[in-house]
Amino acid sequence: MLIILLGPPGAGKGTQADRLVKKYDLAYIATGDILRAAVKSGSPLGREARVFMEQGQLVPDEVVVGIVRERLTAPDCTGGAILDGFPRTVAQAQALDKVLGEIGTGIDRVIHIEVDEEELITRLTGRRVCRDCAATYHINFNPPRVRNVCDQCGGELYQREDDSLSTVQERLAVYREQTAPLIDYYGRENLITIIDGNREIEQIFSDISAALEVGSA
Ligand code: AP5
Ligand code: MG
Ligand code: ZN
Repeated sequence: MLIILLGPPGAGKGTQADRLVKKYDLAYIATGDILRAAVKSGSPLGREARVFMEQGQLVPDEVVVGIVRERLTAPDCTGGAILDGFPRTVAQAQALDKVLGEIGTGIDRVIHIEVDEEELITRLTGRRVCRDCAATYHINFNPPRVRNVCDQCGGELYQREDDSLSTVQERLAVYREQTAPLIDYYGRENLITIIDGNREIEQIFSDISAALEVGSA
């Protein structure tokens, strides 16, 4: 099963992916998480990516396509995977089609999580992330049991550098211009399920699960 989670910054892609990988036992490929780990390690990839990420811009297509190609062909992906935050441009979607053609598989479903812009800003500016396992919280909507401590691993929580108001606004503009065209791209192939993401986390999760189960029946 190959699932793509599509949606603007703050839509809840990571939050839902966390639940979906556990329920369906899928590998998890989040380009944002992979790039942040590279930035933290100070590798050449991280040094290149950092400049774009800090400004809320997209990292060049060939860089992320290379990362995803490598991950999708790794052994843990043979049972299926969830892509979170990739593809993000039409060029990336075309490159993904090519990689999948080479592996001999296809996309099962694209889940598009829609959320109002005002709500996205509230979510992103209140988000906290675990330094060690990347689990995601929100100071009001999804707080950890102990302030600033990860429920899952005990790690310290921090605020992402790109979650400042001005960078969030830039990321939303980049989404509208470069990523939203994918809604049509996948809509044409009837691969998209639209989910109202302006609701409770568990309600959204239950709708996404239902969409995947219909798709696989
Ligand atoms: P990435 O890390 O992918 O960021 P993003 O797409 O901007 O998405 P977010 O992670 O911000 O949001 P999310 O949808 O995962 O929401 P979350 O579940 O955390 O990318 C970062 C950067 O990396 C990019 O800007 C770019 O530079 C680069 N990059 C990554 N992929 C790339 C690619 N393919 N090509 C080029 N560059 C790439 O939830 C948000 C908050 O809301 C949390 O606090 C959460 O607790 C809360 N929340 C979630 N659901 C709900 C709910 N239903 N109700 C209330 N609160 C909720
Ligand atoms: Mg995310
Ligand atoms: Zn953690």
